[in-house]
Amino acid sequence: MKQENLENTIKHSLFGVVAEAAGNLNSDAFVIGGFVRDTILERPCKDVDIVTSGNGILLAEESARLLGVKKVSVFKTFGTAMFMYKEWQVEFVGARKESYSSDSRNPAVEPGSIEDDQKRRDFTINAMAISLNSNNLGSLVDPFKGVEDLTKKIIRTPLDPDITFTDDPLRMMRAIRFATQLDFDIYPETFTAIQRNAERIKIISKERITEEMNKIIMTHKPSVGFRLLDASGILELIFPQFVALKGAEYIDGKGHKDNFYHTLEVLDRIVPNTDNLWLRWSAILHDIAKPATKRFETETGWTFHGHEFKGMKMIPSIFAQMKLPLNEKLKYVQKMVQLHLRPVVLSEDLVTDSAVRRLLFDAGDGIDDLMTLCEADITSKNPDKVKRYMKNFELVRRKLKEIEEKDRMRNWQPPVTGELIMQTFGIGPGRGIGIIKTAIREAILDGIIHNEFDEAYQMMIDEGKKMGFFPVVQHVDTNLPDKNETSG
Ligand code: CTP
Repeated sequence: MKQENLENTIKHSLFGVVAEAAGNLNSDAFVIGGFVRDTILERPCKDVDIVTSGNGILLAEESARLLGVKKVSVFKTFGTAMFMYKEWQVEFVGARKESYSSDSRNPAVEPGSIEDDQKRRDFTINAMAISLNSNNLGSLVDPFKGVEDLTKKIIRTPLDPDITFTDDPLRMMRAIRFATQLDFDIYPETFTAIQRNAERIKIISKERITEEMNKIIMTHKPSVGFRLLDASGILELIFPQFVALKGAEYIDGKGHKDNFYHTLEVLDRIVPNTDNLWLRWSAILHDIAKPATKRFETETGWTFHGHEFKGMKMIPSIFAQMKLPLNEKLKYVQKMVQLHLRPVVLSEDLVTDSAVRRLLFDAGDGIDDLMTLCEADITSKNPDKVKRYMKNFELVRRKLKEIEEKDRMRNWQPPVTGELIMQTFGIGPGRGIGIIKTAIREAILDGIIHNEFDEAYQMMIDEGKKMGFFPVVQHVDTNLPDKNETSG
């Protein structure tokens, strides 16, 4: 953390120009919030917030004029304006006194001083400002000891936390997110206030909650955030299905692992191997149906039969509840959850070609991600067991590569189409087409025939005959390569 960062920052032409613009308008201006925090922490930040004692929109327009920026977006109702300058997104706002009414997020806003504006911000580390005024250009305005908290690695509210969190309850999740992102602790009084106010999260829209949760998931150690969410009581309110994974039950001295902590471990383990939010969500959801499928059998102990299938079925309603996208991302997560045991089973058994072919067929392009998920899922404390699994997975990966090169099962397309079957036998659409196609697919997957046209064509003729169909034409698809002997 370096003080000269601030000075270097202010020398940047953007800030010099905003300072000049503020001077032209006879008003004060400050860089404030996340940009100041990140500059001191030497973290990259491209979002710049400017607050002024004057009119934010006028300062944006004057700054844009001096910088030669053509397009300024103005939000009259909020009194804010923004523009892009090089890679920076610069937002301007007039200093405000702001208080949110207790039952909604609609703020009652009135103009205020820079101190008022700093007071109404979420955390001391986010309430620091750098002056852009000629009398003290570049100096840090830090009334709540933000620098001290940055050094001590503490998340703390500038005001009584009950007031700060009442103003905007999402800040409770922001506290947890910043603590996770920055490896900071939440100040004890701030955290107990989060526990006390947890219920207020209910007035926040699902979209904003999920956005914050996704940010936690994208950190380098999301388990930290989820443990804090859990300890605060917020997790139970926003994601009860996850909390339901908690606990280990014992019958006749036999227990099962605590699936909540297991899931957190899987999530942390997948982080270094993927930046794909949806693969990380798959890690969170892979065992989500364990509570719903749990049984105790005298011989075998605890079982969770079918949890991968039931989990896949549960995901659409979880996505809907959290306002996550109900599109191909949902389908992808469902596929990962449904298939997450397959490579494990494969690695326990003899790895046969046909089992590998079936896995490639079912997983398609998701195969590499599925393997990444399965590897993260090995959380055993027994190093020999882990070693054995990892070795077997290596074998599965090798086999996958081998079979894919040979049989091209990933994103498989049937070598004979329904259209060709109808033309060949002179029949219309009907059940027979599906039966023939399935027979061909199964034969390819089992390795009875190769994944290629000639063998599939022959099988189609044989299967058709079994159903009483006879070819009226020989191969008629003139589009296929090397098949000039068509028509008949
Ligand atoms: N802020 C706040 N309360 C909120 C959201 C934001 O007080 N609920 C203030 C903080 O001063 C924050 C600034 O607005 O620093 C900018 O907010 P935002 O861009 O959302 O967050 P950053 O702090 O910049 O961090 P990040 O970009 O990582 O979200």
